[in-house]
Order: sequence, then C-alpha cells, then structure tokens
Amino acid sequence: MLKVENLDKTFHTGAGDVHAVQNVTFNANDGEVVAIIGASGSGKSTLLSLLGLLDAPDRGSIEIDGNQLANLDAAGRTKYRSTQVGFVFQQFNLIPNLSAKENVKLALEFAHWPKEDREARAEAMLEMVGLDAGKADRRPAKLSGGEQQRVAIARAFAAQPQLILADEPTGSLDKSTGQKIISLLREAASQQKATVLVVTHDEKISQQADRRLEIEDGVLKEIA
Ligand SMILES: Nc1ncnc2c1ncn2[C@@H]1O[C@H](COP(=O)(O)OP(=O)(O)OP(=O)(O)O)[C@@H](O)[C@H]1O
Ligand SMILES: [Mg+2]
Repeated sequence: MLKVENLDKTFHTGAGDVHAVQNVTFNANDGEVVAIIGASGSGKSTLLSLLGLLDAPDRGSIEIDGNQLANLDAAGRTKYRSTQVGFVFQQFNLIPNLSAKENVKLALEFAHWPKEDREARAEAMLEMVGLDAGKADRRPAKLSGGEQQRVAIARAFAAQPQLILADEPTGSLDKSTGQKIISLLREAASQQKATVLVVTHDEKISQQADRRLEIEDGVLKEIA
C-alpha cells in the first residue's frame, strides 16, 4: 500500500518559482495499476522522481507498507531504490553492452540477491514478460522496441519491489505494442502484488488502468 500525503515540490529558477507538485495526496493498493495523465510540464515526472527518492520533496510524506520514506537514512534510501522500487522509462534505458538476461541479473546484483539464485530468477522474469527464450542472450540493439521494454519490465520487477514507476513506457512504441505492454504491466502488478504508477499521454492506454489520476499544474485529482 502506497500512501502519499500533502506532497510539495517547488523548483526555484531564474524565471521564477515553478510549483511542480502541489499538495498531492493519494493512495494506491498492492496489485493496482494507476494511470497518471496530464499535459506536458504538469508535474508527472517530478511526482515519480519524488516517489522514487530521486529527488526530495519540500513537504509531505510518502509511506510504503507502513514505512515512512522520510525516516530512511542514506543507506536506507539506497536500499529502497535498489529493492523496493522499479523504474520503467520511455527509452527503455537498458545497458547496451549487456544481454537481456545480464541486464536483469545486474538489477538483482544491485539488490543483493544471492548469487546462485540470480540466473534462475532472471530467466523466470524474462519468461513472465514473454521474451522468447532464444532472445535472452541478445543485446538490446538486437531486440525490437517492444522486446526491449519487456526486458526493462522484467528488470524493474526482478527484485520484487512494492512499487513500479513507469514514465511514458509506451511512448516509443506503436499502438498495438503499447497496448500489449500495458496488459503486461497489469498482469505483472497483480502477480507480483506491486503497485504500478504509469504516466501516459495516451487516453486509450490510461483507460486500461484500474484508476486514473490527472495532474494539472502540479495539482492531482482523481478521474471518476
Ligand atoms: N530540475 C528542475 N529544475 C527546474 N524546473 C524543473 C525541473 N524539473 C522539472 N521542472 C519544471 O517543473 C514542471 C514539471 O515538470 P515535469 O518534468 O514534472 O513535467 P511532466 O508532466 O513530466 O511533463 P512531460 O509530459 O513533458 O514529460 C515543469 O514546468 C518543468 O519545467
Ligand atoms: Mg515527464
């Protein structure tokens, strides 16, 4: 369970203050896929970076399974980023000189999974996302965009995080591949009991989510 309360983030720029995230409050359950929609510059990526502890809020709290993230020390924050949260990006962000399987295994290494379990776990994750077994040893450049995103999803879920943050995961894919990636995120969320927050510009994609939240100038509201 993710509980976000009164989250605020303002950027102070030469051109003035930008209230990127304003008093944002919402909850999301385990296994739930929540779409976040909103215009360019509305604060979607900023919100995800606060939830992923890539940036610090000015005010407000983030609680995951009863634990306040603000209470973590530096080591706890590093552990959170490598074990409790998974990221999926528009441009896949796989490591180009590693194979699909090695990309997943590296995430497990960062999460301090026992060495002897990593190979089997990586293979199971690639199977979960539907990558052909024969492609597990290929480097990203030898995979299609949809296949690369499947690998990125396998990597994000590998260490069994509670929270997956996906920023425009279908933005570089054609429509039908995008739809497949969203159904995959839904299946993985319910199978792994993780909360998935997915930022999208695409109305059709957002309709596949369990719930929709809209952000406008940093202010979040639930769409009925
Ligand atoms: N590091 C930063 N310093 C200053 N301003 C920033 C910074 N990051 C984001 N902003 C500003 O905060 C606002 C929200 O940006 P954000 O990237 O969260 O928008 P977004 O909804 O993800 O947009 P897009 O759909 O284009 O990705 C924008 O006005 C942006 O210019
Ligand atoms: Mg963005």
